[in-house]
Amino acid sequence: MKLSITDTQDRNSNTILIPLEQSDGLSESLGHFARQWEISLINLTKEFKGESGETFSHRKGDQRFFLLGLGKNPGYAEINRAFRSFAHKYKNKLDPQLTVDLSSFRATEPALAAEAVSNGLILGAYQLGIYKSEKPELHPFCSETAELNLLVQEKSRADAEGGAMRGKVIAETQMKMFDLVNAPSNKKLPTDLAEWALDSGKTYGYRVEAWDKYQIEEAGLLALLAVNQGSALPPSFIVMEYVPENLQPKAKIALVGKGVTFDTGGLSIKPAANLHLMKSDMGGAAAVFGAMETAARLQLPVHLIGIVPATENSVDAHAVKPSDVIGSYSGKTIEVIDTDAEGRLILADGLNYAVRHFQPDVLIDLATLTGSAVRTFGYHAAGLFSNNDRLADQLTRAGDKVGERIWRLPIWDVYKEDIKSDIADLRNYSGRPTAGAIGAAKFLEAFIENHPAWAHLDIAGVAFNDSEFASQKCATAFGVRLLIEYLENLTDN
Ligand code: BES
Ligand code: ZN
Ligand code: ZN
Repeated sequence: MKLSITDTQDRNSNTILIPLEQSDGLSESLGHFARQWEISLINLTKEFKGESGETFSHRKGDQRFFLLGLGKNPGYAEINRAFRSFAHKYKNKLDPQLTVDLSSFRATEPALAAEAVSNGLILGAYQLGIYKSEKPELHPFCSETAELNLLVQEKSRADAEGGAMRGKVIAETQMKMFDLVNAPSNKKLPTDLAEWALDSGKTYGYRVEAWDKYQIEEAGLLALLAVNQGSALPPSFIVMEYVPENLQPKAKIALVGKGVTFDTGGLSIKPAANLHLMKSDMGGAAAVFGAMETAARLQLPVHLIGIVPATENSVDAHAVKPSDVIGSYSGKTIEVIDTDAEGRLILADGLNYAVRHFQPDVLIDLATLTGSAVRTFGYHAAGLFSNNDRLADQLTRAGDKVGERIWRLPIWDVYKEDIKSDIADLRNYSGRPTAGAIGAAKFLEAFIENHPAWAHLDIAGVAFNDSEFASQKCATAFGVRLLIEYLENLTDN
């Protein structure tokens, strides 16, 4: 979709979208439209209250106007959601050219509003049916002639332009992540994740290495290998590095993402009912891929490292068994109590490699790690665990701003009991149904070599969710927007 920013009334399109918040100024705005359209203000006021999700449409000559309700005090998340739903809902009725009138929009700063609008409209055009033999009709915004005109005040033009471009770049990567997470495991092998990263690195100019099984053995990523033992497919260990050109990086940040392309549970096999959802067990990897690609495209001033250990968690005669003791990259030995607690095993190697090899200033991992996080937060927030208050605050604020909520849980040392083993250095599960997400975080903490600025995001409940796109749960690309917001707000240390 092409983007153009104008400050005049000359519109290339006949469809004009006007977002309105529920505020004291609403009746004045409605008065203006009632006069302009020569319709009754009383009727308009009855039919449009500015509530979130509400639309009112009016035709005048060959122009079509839509008022779009945003509710009270809308921020990025509310604006984004309203535009995304609009683009999705009206897909069969829209022209490829659209004007959004932000000239009297005051709720949010122009750059952020423009970003939320362009990102939402583009995401709303997403279509799920990639494997259907009969391809669904293309959304009008995907056509060659698609064009979004943003009408803003002259003084906000540059800001709005920057915001709209950023929204577009982020949406394009978010949609690739939708495709990757929505893909079934027979269409996304661990080596396909590696291919994706190699392609992205080549296209957007960042370094990517993907290790094969032999290189993983050479390096001694023993926990990743243990999880891979029961799978017919080889693992991959993906290392990405983006260094900004001609800019002094503000910090060196390492991101580690869980890349389990399908989680059967292994010998501690999962029940059948929701097993199909476990194709989404690489949502953490998707967040890391998305952040890497977007950071490189936006040329963010940060030295960014992305690590994705990728494997299936499957079962055959070679599969790791409950009670087996395995090694790890760190050298610590692990008693595998439950083979379904596999994410923490591969992350242990990913985190330890990230710290020892790159010595980052900040270390962040993202993983669809525990059912416990889903039971705690439902589908509305991710669990945050951190040993650093400043980092926890920065991430929480970034998430609040863009509508990807995270909420901190403790990692007190009393929970270390849960990962104590009699026979090995650690065990991967307490064997009890309590404090599961915290126990998993304590396990990861044992592999960060006392790094002082680490955060773990348990995104099990939010990576794959209900949405307007589908009748079943589908990918959200949770984490991409949050991480970009966090990286953009980094200050020099
Ligand atoms: N991938 C799952 C966690 C999960 C559950 C993600 C639901 C998304 C939705 C993870 O590998 C897992 O199986 N965790 C177990 C650990 C337990 C055996 C200690 C869990 O949380 O039940
Ligand atoms: Zn599992
Ligand atoms: Zn898993």
